[in-house]
Amino acid sequence: MDVVIRPTAEAAADLVARVIAREMRSNPRLVMGLASGNTMESVYARLVQMHCEEGLDFSACRTFNLDEYVGLSVNDANSYRHYMNRHLFLRVNINLQKTHLPDGMAANLPAECLNYERLIATHGGIDLQLLGIGQNGHLGFNEPLSALRSRTRVTVLSRTTRAQNAPLFPDPNRVPQRAITMGVGSILDCRQCLLLATGEEKAAIVAKAVEGPITSMISATALQLHANCLLVLDEAAASQLKESEYHHWLFENQPEWEPFRASELSSSTLDSQFQVERPEKKTAETVSEVINRVDGAAILRTGNAPL
Ligand code: GLP
Repeated sequence: MDVVIRPTAEAAADLVARVIAREMRSNPRLVMGLASGNTMESVYARLVQMHCEEGLDFSACRTFNLDEYVGLSVNDANSYRHYMNRHLFLRVNINLQKTHLPDGMAANLPAECLNYERLIATHGGIDLQLLGIGQNGHLGFNEPLSALRSRTRVTVLSRTTRAQNAPLFPDPNRVPQRAITMGVGSILDCRQCLLLATGEEKAAIVAKAVEGPITSMISATALQLHANCLLVLDEAAASQLKESEYHHWLFENQPEWEPFRASELSSSTLDSQFQVERPEKKTAETVSEVINRVDGAAILRTGNAPL
């Protein structure tokens, strides 16, 4: 596991976005695993900016999201499909048919989970999986005691998770009880994992995930088993790590980080740059218009475009 610590949340998100962009440029058909949550919003804003200003091309890449709430339709503003459309998909030149999320409205949820795993396999597996971390250490919605070899399945959300996500819902009682999530084992199968955590409220769980014993009580500790895993933290999220000086030294001295050190933007520059304008072509269409245009949930969900 590699850990990089940046001074601010903005600088950490910028570095994550630039790692993603580097991978996309070296493999335009990259299969990306995507995550949702507040932390990811700055990453997606930065990717949108790179698309607008530097021509970062999403046209050939394929995406699979980690999870989706059970019972929320694609038109529900709290669904992760809606989140992804809003923050990334409708702002870049991605082919919506190549974007995938589990269908939380599926009549047969176990079959949907199996189908999602199969779809990932059909695409050759996930090259780069973006991850956040919940306050209880979950990855996706792998709540405490999720088996370290678990696959995509329906999970029941813990009270901590429902409380953490409640502010995003108009009424806290409307936070769904269940979700479909890729399993810990599915995540460990991805060729590269890239986790971003920022803010002091993540410091304790990050320290457990990075330096604590591997336990199914904290899904993120499973990343210690992954041979190609990068954690990007801001100073606040890294504040309880025992080895933070070592991580700083590596970033400042290892040649692989040279391009990232050289072009690092100041946080004030980033702040202003994060006020990303939508590309002109996309501003005309609202999320629901696009959903109608592509003929509803079926296309948005399964994306059966040829490989
Ligand atoms: C949700 C998602 C997780 C994400 C977590 C962190 O629970 N299912 O994938 O990591 O939120 O969210 P935030 O970035 O808002 O702290």
